[in-house]
Amino acid sequence: MLGISKMAAGVEPSATLAAAARARQLKAEGKDVLDFSVGEPDFPTPPFICDAGKQAIDQGKTRYTPASGTIELRKTIAAWYQAEYGLAVTPEQVIVSGGAKQSIHNTLAALVGPGDEVIIPTPYWVSYGDLVKMTGATPVLVHTTLDAGFRMTTHQLEAAITPRTKLLLLNSPSNPTGAVYPRSTLEAFAEVVIKHNIGVISDEIYEKLVYGDAKATCFATLAPGLPERTITISGVSKTYAMTGWRIGWAIGPKHVVAAMGNIQSQETSNPSSISQEAARIALTGDQTFLGPMIKEFEARRDLVCAGLNKIPGIRCFVPDGAFYAFFDVTGTFGKTVAGGPFHTDTDFCKAALDHALVCLVQGSAFGAPGHARLSFAASRAQLEEGLRRLSHWLAG
Ligand SMILES: Cc1ncc(COP(=O)(O)O)c(C=O)c1O
Repeated sequence: MLGISKMAAGVEPSATLAAAARARQLKAEGKDVLDFSVGEPDFPTPPFICDAGKQAIDQGKTRYTPASGTIELRKTIAAWYQAEYGLAVTPEQVIVSGGAKQSIHNTLAALVGPGDEVIIPTPYWVSYGDLVKMTGATPVLVHTTLDAGFRMTTHQLEAAITPRTKLLLLNSPSNPTGAVYPRSTLEAFAEVVIKHNIGVISDEIYEKLVYGDAKATCFATLAPGLPERTITISGVSKTYAMTGWRIGWAIGPKHVVAAMGNIQSQETSNPSSISQEAARIALTGDQTFLGPMIKEFEARRDLVCAGLNKIPGIRCFVPDGAFYAFFDVTGTFGKTVAGGPFHTDTDFCKAALDHALVCLVQGSAFGAPGHARLSFAASRAQLEEGLRRLSHWLAG
């Protein structure tokens, strides 16, 4: 039998994709499963963006593009950051990838390797730990709690820094918690990273999905020393409901982006030419569809958090952004309910799927045992039914 490399053997499959696969399997067996494991908007890609993709095909934009993306799209992204945040960006500082996930991987591959440490606050997006490990670097986890708003403190950050620390990986608004760091906390982080001379990957992919008074902050804009040490990550997947089109990007110092371009050119060549054209039109076209989408997510957030918090044993964090409810389930441990008593979040989620036909993702997958994540990128009717099932199941 062919031996698997040490690197590949250390990679876990994505827990969210695994949960969705389990839900699909049960559905195929005829079970009426409600799948709240998915990390993508349930809205369709807006028609003007789909039309741009079709036109790109008709106009023959179906060939290789420069590995780091078309100059037109890179110029559009650079102009978008200037207009949105006042961040001065040249097209040479932009690389377009096959999704933000590839941009994060390229950034890590360009900047870290064995012996380096990358600080990641928990709960973290499932892929961060494995992407860091694939480079040979070590993830250093900083634990945050629901009571602390799932936000790392400046003191915790400083305490995690060692002479090996190369990068801090920030994600605000966060997947899985939806926590949004206030500008003042990010300014304090900025002082720390400048003082200790470390770099930052700021994953801002949920930047447009914020609720109430919450505001997403573009980390690189917070201090003069930041653009030279920050790689900003974003993309069209979440804002424009374009998960399947696979377009994300990174903005950073020219030499880092050039190194990432070399990696990408050997790895995948360019991201899809058709999707790049659609992404360009997404960024420059009419943005009015966004308002109603955000309002709808906010209404679902209110519905889901209120519903979960009414269930004895569950404590739900109210997120300011993204489309996930992240909740503490430890109060349900040891109860006599169908599939129970259970004592871990993994067993809680397994029993929720088997006995309430509700698919969630266990908090351990995000480095936060004792919790579960519910994606509210589903219709209100589905969410109401999901809450009813969970409540009924946990009532015993
Ligand atoms: C925090 C975070 N970053 C990055 C990504 C990846 O996005 P993309 O679909 O553009 O690869 C996701 C997707 O779930 C995410 O939640």
